[in-house]
Amino acid sequence: MQNIISYINSNKEKYVEELKDFLRIPSISTSAENKSDMITAANFVVKKLTEAGMENAKIIETKGHPLVYADWLYAPGKPTVLVYGHYDVQPVDPIDLWDSPPFEPTIRGENIYARGATDDKGQMYMHIKSVEAFFKTVGKLPLNVKFIIEGEEEIGSGNLEEFVGKNQDLLKCDAVMISDTSLYGPGIPTLTYGLRGLCYMEVTVTGPNRDLHSGTFGGGVDNPINVLAELISKLKDYNGKIKIPGFYKDVVNLTKKERENFKRLPFSEKQYAKTLGVKELKGEKGYTTLERVWARPTLDCNGIFGGFTGQGAKTVLPSKATAKISMRLVPNQDPKKVGKQFSSYIKKIAPKSVNLEINDLHGAYPIATSLDDKATQAAADAIAKVFGKKTVFMREGGSIPIVVTFAKKLKAAPVLMGLGLNTENLHSPNEHFNLNHFQLGILSSAYFFDEFSK
Ligand code: BES
Ligand code: MN
Ligand code: MN
Repeated sequence: MQNIISYINSNKEKYVEELKDFLRIPSISTSAENKSDMITAANFVVKKLTEAGMENAKIIETKGHPLVYADWLYAPGKPTVLVYGHYDVQPVDPIDLWDSPPFEPTIRGENIYARGATDDKGQMYMHIKSVEAFFKTVGKLPLNVKFIIEGEEEIGSGNLEEFVGKNQDLLKCDAVMISDTSLYGPGIPTLTYGLRGLCYMEVTVTGPNRDLHSGTFGGGVDNPINVLAELISKLKDYNGKIKIPGFYKDVVNLTKKERENFKRLPFSEKQYAKTLGVKELKGEKGYTTLERVWARPTLDCNGIFGGFTGQGAKTVLPSKATAKISMRLVPNQDPKKVGKQFSSYIKKIAPKSVNLEINDLHGAYPIATSLDDKATQAAADAIAKVFGKKTVFMREGGSIPIVVTFAKKLKAAPVLMGLGLNTENLHSPNEHFNLNHFQLGILSSAYFFDEFSK
């Protein structure tokens, strides 16, 4: 390993320059305008995988944005690792809140600033540099490696889902290595063993067949915005419990041991409130903040619109109002079932005076992975060695839709070895990635391949 480690340590600057090239490509998956940038980004990944020494690196077309695949399978008798990541990024708005342009990567202090720096280009790139270090020094990998990198994670992974279902042989592996989560804190080696799922709904309430003068007609018909607000207020009670019938039925409760483990992690509710700029923390009664954000389901309104939202005052009684409402789910909740429960409840509590349109936009299954898997142990040892500290195991409130599909269809253990930080502004202005963690991530990946091959 010594050659490989010193190779990685002596190429630090080169890695950063390459990452900058990657970050310059505005691969925003949700925006039709950036369709050709998606192809540029996919080609960039193919090129870098090939240059690193991987074989069969290619683009795989889908109905949406392309997938990238590569492999190196010359270690008979050794395990196979599938590395997953995503080259797509979130939109950049509100653009005026960025201190440097989102697609002009800029280094300030220890961080590189750009959209996609931590989620997920920077993290995914660590594994490409790790395999390259093996090829450039010892000329081979200690085990078999496949890469599958997608361009639709931020829009729900629909096409990869289908691809995995139809290509189980191609993707066959013993473990899936994913760096798309966060460290518990700066310099703390971490593995994530749980992700929440998601059920994303949109509700449109329609009242009168057109906008009305609110004086002439006000008081005579129900107002869709008022009705929508009433519906939303009935989704949760004062204790933060979700009132949809059957919602908690499949929820796996936290065990005593897990609650104790969470309590042992250093955490200050006061500091957390302070960094978020809120006067007090709020959530489901009877649970700590870490329990609430990692292991309990939630329901939140993500957006609401209707009526007059321009400057000044317009006296109008709107015809329509819409809310986007998402629920984060925990094992063993099923997003499809929850979507149905949500719809029936809304229909039941809505007044007859309005029409309802309810759409299930997308979802993701929650997951909790096993901690005793060989791959998980190898990753825990690898990252602990690199950081020089004991690995912390945490859960995460966010979602990565494809992880459950990998676990179910490929029957392989997902290993979530993220090197990001939740304070690195993913999905928001001034996204950045700590370059020390980037470097430590490349080393951790290399130690993982070595450790898991034994
Ligand atoms: N990498 C994130 C998930 C994540 C967020 C992990 C924070 C760890 C910490 C991923 O790219 C993401 O944003 N997922 C979406 C999924 C959705 C679009 C289906 C999410 O969680 O909102
Ligand atoms: Mn991500
Ligand atoms: Mn994301």
